[in-house]
Amino acid sequence: MSESLAGKAAALDAADELAAARKLFALDEAVYLDGNSLGALPAHVPARVADVVTRQWGELRIRSWDESGWWTAPERIGDRIAPLVGAAPGQVVVGDSTSVNVFKAVVGAVRLVDDPARTDVLVDAGTFPTDGYIAESAARMTGKQLVLVDPADLPAALGPTTAVALLNHVDYRSGRLHDLPGLTAAIHDAGALAVWDLCHSAGALPVGLDEHGVDLAVGCTYKYLNGGPGSPAYLYVAERHQAGFDSPLPGWNSHTDPFAMTLGYEAAPGAVRGRVGTPDILSMLALEASLDVWDGVSIDAVRAKSLALTDFFLECVEAYVPAGSVTSLTPAAHAERGSQVALRCEDAPRVMRELIGRGVIGDLRRPDVLRFGFTPLYVGFGDVERAARVLSEVLRG
Ligand SMILES: Cc1ncc(COP(=O)(O)O)c(C=O)c1O
Repeated sequence: MSESLAGKAAALDAADELAAARKLFALDEAVYLDGNSLGALPAHVPARVADVVTRQWGELRIRSWDESGWWTAPERIGDRIAPLVGAAPGQVVVGDSTSVNVFKAVVGAVRLVDDPARTDVLVDAGTFPTDGYIAESAARMTGKQLVLVDPADLPAALGPTTAVALLNHVDYRSGRLHDLPGLTAAIHDAGALAVWDLCHSAGALPVGLDEHGVDLAVGCTYKYLNGGPGSPAYLYVAERHQAGFDSPLPGWNSHTDPFAMTLGYEAAPGAVRGRVGTPDILSMLALEASLDVWDGVSIDAVRAKSLALTDFFLECVEAYVPAGSVTSLTPAAHAERGSQVALRCEDAPRVMRELIGRGVIGDLRRPDVLRFGFTPLYVGFGDVERAARVLSEVLRG
C-alpha cells in the first residue's frame, strides 16, 4: 500500500505544473504544513529587506518616502493583492492588522447601510475570535447588536433587521469553505451588506470579490500570501461604496491632502480612504517583495493543486492510519473545502508534538484538532504522503 501511494505521489509531483515554485522558498527537509498560519519565507526577501534597511532607510533616509515609494506603498501593494482576490485595481489598500480592518469594515458597512431599522450585525458562529470580539464592539458603538449565526442557517436568519453580515470565507478550525457567491447574494437580497474575512482563502483559491459583488473584505497576508510574521493586512472596499465609506479611523494618511495638515478631515477618494496612520514600511516592503512569487501564477492552477493535495492527504490518511483513530472535520465536497485538513484525534497535543519532532509541521487547535495547511506553491505530493505516513507511525505509538 505504502509503495503504491509513494509511487502515486511521485507521479503527481512529476505532473505538477506548480512544482517549480517550491525552489522560490527557503525550505528544509521538514514537511511544512503550517502555511495556513505562517507562510514560508520566499528566498529573495531577505536581500530585498536588507536593501530597504541599509540603502532606503540607511542612506536615502527621509527621501525614501518619495524616492523609494514608501508613501504610496499601501495602495501600490493593494493593487498587487487585488488580482489574487478577484478585485480590479483601486479597491484594496494594505495596512494595519486584520483585526483593525475588521473594525473599519464593520463600522464602515453599518454607516453605509445607515438605517436605524436594521439593528443586527450577523457574524458566523464559528468565526475566528478576533472578528467576533471586534464586531461586537463595533455593533455596540454603532447602536447595533451582534447576532451569531451558523453559516448554514444564515439565509433564514437574514431579514429586514439585518444591517451587515461578517463571514469567514474559510473556517479556520475545520477548513470548511463557505459559499461566498450564494451567501453574498442572499445578504444583498435581504438589503444588507456583506463583509468577508479572507484570511484562509486569499492565495489558496479564487475569491472573486468583484464578480460576486462583495461589499467589503479584509484579510491577512502572512498565511498563503507569505508576507512574513505580522505582515500588514488589507481592506477591500468595492468601488461603488468608496464615496460613501466613512472610516471610523480617519487618520491623516487617508486625508485628501495629508500634508496640508488641516484640522478639518476630508476623506481621500478611492482605496486610500481605508488608510489610517504612518504605514509599517519594513513589514510592508517585505510583503511587497514576497508577492513576486505570484508572478505568472494562475490562482485557478493553485486551487486545482490545493484540492489535489487535500484529496491525496485524505486518501493517504485513510490508507495508513489505524481505523477510527482520526476523524476529518474537513468537508469531503470540493465546493466546501478550503486548503487545509483538520483531523480530530485523541491526545492531539502529544500527536502534534511528536509529528513536529519527526519533521512534519502542522499545528494544534485545542483541545483535539490537528490542522494541516497545504500551500500549493511549495507543498508537494511526496510531502503529503510522508506526512500521512509519519502520522500513522505516531498514532501507532
Ligand atoms: C480568519 C482570521 N481572522 C483574523 C485573524 C487574525 O487577525 P490579526 O492579524 O489581526 O491577528 C486570523 C489569524 O489567524 C484569522 O485566521
